[in-house]
Amino acid sequence: MKILLATSELHPYSKTGGLGDMVAALAKYLAKRGHQVGVVTPLYRGIREAFPDIKRFDWVFAFPLGSEFVRGGVWTTRPHPNLTVYFVDQPRFFDRDGMYQGANGDFDDNANRYFFFCKSVVNLARHLPLQPEIVHLHDWQTGMVPLLIRHQAEAAGWANRPHHCFTIHNLAYQGGFDAGAFALANLPPAYFTPASSEFYGGLNFLKAGIVAADQVTTVSPTYATEIGTQEFGCGLEVVLGELRHPVKGILNGVDYEEWNTDRNPRLIAPYDVRRLSGKRANKLALQKQLGLAVNAETPLFVNVSRLVEQKGADLLLEAIPMLIERDIQFALLGKGHPEIEEGFAALAEAYPGKVAVTIGYDHALAHRMEAGGDVFVMPSRFEPCGLNQLYSLRYGTLPIVRATGGLADSVTDARDDAAKVDGIKFREPSVPALHKALLKALAVYQDPSALRVLRHNGMVADFGWEHAAKEYEAFYRELKSRPLLK
Ligand code: ADP
Ligand code: GLC
Repeated sequence: MKILLATSELHPYSKTGGLGDMVAALAKYLAKRGHQVGVVTPLYRGIREAFPDIKRFDWVFAFPLGSEFVRGGVWTTRPHPNLTVYFVDQPRFFDRDGMYQGANGDFDDNANRYFFFCKSVVNLARHLPLQPEIVHLHDWQTGMVPLLIRHQAEAAGWANRPHHCFTIHNLAYQGGFDAGAFALANLPPAYFTPASSEFYGGLNFLKAGIVAADQVTTVSPTYATEIGTQEFGCGLEVVLGELRHPVKGILNGVDYEEWNTDRNPRLIAPYDVRRLSGKRANKLALQKQLGLAVNAETPLFVNVSRLVEQKGADLLLEAIPMLIERDIQFALLGKGHPEIEEGFAALAEAYPGKVAVTIGYDHALAHRMEAGGDVFVMPSRFEPCGLNQLYSLRYGTLPIVRATGGLADSVTDARDDAAKVDGIKFREPSVPALHKALLKALAVYQDPSALRVLRHNGMVADFGWEHAAKEYEAFYRELKSRPLLK
C-alpha cells in the first residue's frame, strides 16, 4: 500500500513525548513490511544541522493563509528503504526555539503555524508521485487535514481522494483557538459549525479531525473506551460517541532496535534476560552519575516524564517523602510545569544522596534510567498508551502503574494473570493508593525469587512493533475498501 503519515513530532528529528517515537516506529515497520511510506513533519530549528543527509526537494508551496499568501519549501531524506520523510520548511513558523512554546507559553501564532502545516500535508497528499491511498494523521496539529481534503474532493476536482484516518494520542491537547482563526482555513462557513470544526464558539483542530476523518483511532483499546466517558472525554465524549464508526484502539509497540539492553551504545554494560549482571553495572553507574550513594542493594525508584498533571507527578511528589526514611533512592528526569519542577528540585536538596532530580530533556539519560532503575513509577491520571512502562518491562525495571488507558492494557498484575505477572497496578489516583503500591514494590524487591519471576515475565513480554504494524495494515486494508463518504 501507499501510505502518507503526518505528524508534528518525529523521532529522531523532533520529540517532546511518545508521539515522536510512535509515528517514527509505525512508519519504519510499515516500510519493513514492504509498503511505500511517506511521513510529513515540520522542519524545526536545528534538524538540518544535526542530520546532514537531509536534502532540498524540488517542491514549493504557496498558499493563502487567511488574507496572507505564505510560501514554503520541502526537504527530504530516506532513513530506511521504502520510507521517505518530507520536512515542511517555513522559517517564520518553524525556525524558532521550541516546537509549541517559547519562554512565555504557547506561541500565539500556533493556529497559523499548524494551518500552514495542514495545507502542506494536503498539497503533498494530492500531488506527490507517491499518490497515497491512505493518509494517516496524528494529533491536533494535523486535525484540519481531513476537512481540507474533503473540501478539495467536493469542490476542487479531487475525485479519487485518499481515505484518511486520524489518531488521537492525547485528547487533552485539542488545539483550541478563537473563532477568528477559522479565516486561516480559507474554507466556506459551512465548515465552521457545531457538526464540524466549531466547539463552544471557538475553532477546535482536534474536533475537526475527529468529525471529518473517515476513521478515528487511538493508541490503546482501554483509552478508546475511556474517552467515551465524561471522566476522560475532555468535553468531546458526546462527539466521539456519535461517530458512524466507533473509535478503534490499537496498542502502540516498541521499536526494540532502538529500545534494547543488549546492543545499546547509551548503556554502560549490555544485559538481557539470561545475563542480568549488566543491569547491576548500569545501576551503579547511574547512581554515580546522578550523585546518589553508590550501593547495588538499595532499591532505586525512577521516573522519566513530562511534568504535567496527566502524569500524576504531584502524587509522586507527595508519596516519595512518605518512604524516604527507609533505605530507598529516587531519581527523576523531567521537564514541565515550573511548580512541579521546583517541588522535585526541593526534594533533591532535602535528601542529597537519596533523591536525584534532573530537570531537562536528555534522551541518553532516559535510556540509562530505564536500565539502571529497579522500579519505574507511572502514576498517570490518564494515559492514552504510555511507552515508558513498555520500555521498563524490556529493561527489567518493575513498572508500577495506575490502571488506566494503555497502562491497564500492557502491564499484567496478580489480579490479571498470576502466571504472567510483571508489574504492579493501582486504581485510585490518590497519594495513599500510590504509597501502597510503592510499598508493594518494595516487598517484591526484598523477595529475590519474586523479583526474578516478575523481571523475567516483563523482559520476555513481546510488544514489538511488528505486531502493531500488522494491525494497522489490516485496518488500512479495511478502511480502503469502504466507499468514500462526502
Ligand atoms: P507522553 O507521550 O505522554 O509524554 P509516553 O510514555 O508515551 O508519554 O512517552 C514519553 C517518551 O518521551 C518516552 O520515550 C520518554 O523516554 C520520553 N521522555 C519524556 N520526558 C523526557 C525527558 N525529560 N528526557 C528524555 N526523554 C523523555
Ligand atoms: C501521547 C500520550 C501517550 C502515548 C503517546 C504515543 O503523548 O500521552 O500515552 O504513549 O502519545 O502514542
